[in-house]
Amino acid sequence: MKPNIKNIAVLTSGGDAPGMNACIRAVVRTGIYNGINMFGVMQGYQGLITNNIISMDSRSVSNILHLGGTILKTARCLEFKTHEGMQIAYDHLKQNDIDALVVIGGDGTFTGAKRFAEKFDVKVIGIPGTIDNDLSGSDFTLGYDTAINTVIEAIDKIRDTADAHDRLFFVEVMGRDSGCIALRSAIATGAEAVLLPEKETSIRELIDKLALGASTKKTSSIVIVAEGHKQGGAYDIAKKVKETFNHYDTKVTILGHLQRGGSPSSFDRILGSRLGYAAVNALIAGENHKMVGLWGNEIKLTSITDALSNHSYKLESDLMDMTKVLSI
Ligand code: F6P
Repeated sequence: MKPNIKNIAVLTSGGDAPGMNACIRAVVRTGIYNGINMFGVMQGYQGLITNNIISMDSRSVSNILHLGGTILKTARCLEFKTHEGMQIAYDHLKQNDIDALVVIGGDGTFTGAKRFAEKFDVKVIGIPGTIDNDLSGSDFTLGYDTAINTVIEAIDKIRDTADAHDRLFFVEVMGRDSGCIALRSAIATGAEAVLLPEKETSIRELIDKLALGASTKKTSSIVIVAEGHKQGGAYDIAKKVKETFNHYDTKVTILGHLQRGGSPSSFDRILGSRLGYAAVNALIAGENHKMVGLWGNEIKLTSITDALSNHSYKLESDLMDMTKVLSI
């Protein structure tokens, strides 16, 4: 089928996520395969405002599949939140004859796309790319798998030294308001406790859990703290525990931005390729204002509004219960 779309631009916005480059490659090559002229917008929505739009061919995306970060760069753009900013962005899209946009990012990126499409006549397809795994309409977001594997590698190393010194470690992981990385890395590393933004856990409960371990001859423990936990980050929690449990030799590690970098896992390379391919095919099929996502093992479309309407991580209570049992 000959597409009536002639020119597509792709951008990455918000926090970068491993697999974004694999996804950009898939978008560009699927477009070119179908006879579409492909463009890249540099620095996310910022590049629409500054008219930093480049032409891309098959070779522009050679040898990037295995790289973390994003060759298109990314930014969090405040100006795009204003009507004036969106007007400038729209004018630049028109000047460059761009018919449709593929946006790769998380909830902020999707909110921007939704507002833009509500106010201006732009065709847009979204691809969920964030380590936080907190968009509705995709079992997994691009980058989450690599990020959690990075976390696991780091915590396994912390486990060695915690055990050697009989220490209590508090490890803070990313996720903003989502506890997905925290809960799942707790399962995968056998952490003694995990504090999540989605669940109220008192310091008393935490101390009771640690005391139970100590009474059954645990000599070291790891507590994973999601950065969005209501009672504070890992330093705050460690301080509060220390006030009551002074005999513990406590240490704190903040994993920080290393969770966002690195070569994507096979899962994220394949997911990025599938989502990028599906996004362009969706545009060719006449779809608009949709997100491509992974449901089971199938790629499906959800409206961008639905992807955002319930976009927090749904805490899997069975996993939470299991973690409690397996960490005694
Ligand atoms: O959304 C991805 C994420 O890494 C969150 O987990 C984290 O809270 C945030 O971005 C950090 O953003 P920045 O890199 O702008 O500090």
